[in-house]
Amino acid sequence: MAVLASGRGSNFKALAERSQDRAFPAEVACLITDQRAAGAVSVAESFNIPWFWVDAGERRGRLTADAESEIVARCESAGARLVLLAGFMRILESGEGKLLDRFSGRVINIHPSLLPSFKGLQAQRQALEYGVKVAGCSAHFVDASVDGGPIILQSAIAVHDDDTAESLAARILGEEHAVVVRAVELFALGKLKIDGRRVLGTE
Ligand code: GRF
Repeated sequence: MAVLASGRGSNFKALAERSQDRAFPAEVACLITDQRAAGAVSVAESFNIPWFWVDAGERRGRLTADAESEIVARCESAGARLVLLAGFMRILESGEGKLLDRFSGRVINIHPSLLPSFKGLQAQRQALEYGVKVAGCSAHFVDASVDGGPIILQSAIAVHDDDTAESLAARILGEEHAVVVRAVELFALGKLKIDGRRVLGTE
């Protein structure tokens, strides 16, 4: 898989660690980032995983056409069959030759809420402020909607009275690491089947 990340890189690290086990059916071919100083870059270096910085431009939230072409080329030349978005802070758009077209049904994102609740940024804070008693994370296939593609796996945790956005995010993150690894494993084993909005084969 190619991993796309913009930040700290803890989900990427969970995948890199798990991939070291020969019994795991997937491996990380490369990291692609739009942030040269991202923690994810240090993770790549510590695991000897090739990484590439792509100049994604100023168009906040979106990729320039050049950046998108470069990402597609990097993923293809790395031999990736899956693209994993692990805190990649850009919105992917549909269109011929774009990442979602070239890797149709093969782009997975990890999001820190129980979708379809709390899409977008600061999902953990949104959940806390809304007052839900159960929060969690979702791994889902990516389509051109933001955090709206078919859900692969979810994991739930209880929200405590004394939770802050930070403490809640920390507990959700532990779940994310397990969920992202399992979603990749199921994908690599060929178990996942997209049937409309449902993803089958996850039991
Ligand atoms: C995670 O909470 C992920 O769900 C979200 O961005 C965050 C990335 O964290 N999409 P990390 O960089 O993997 O530590």
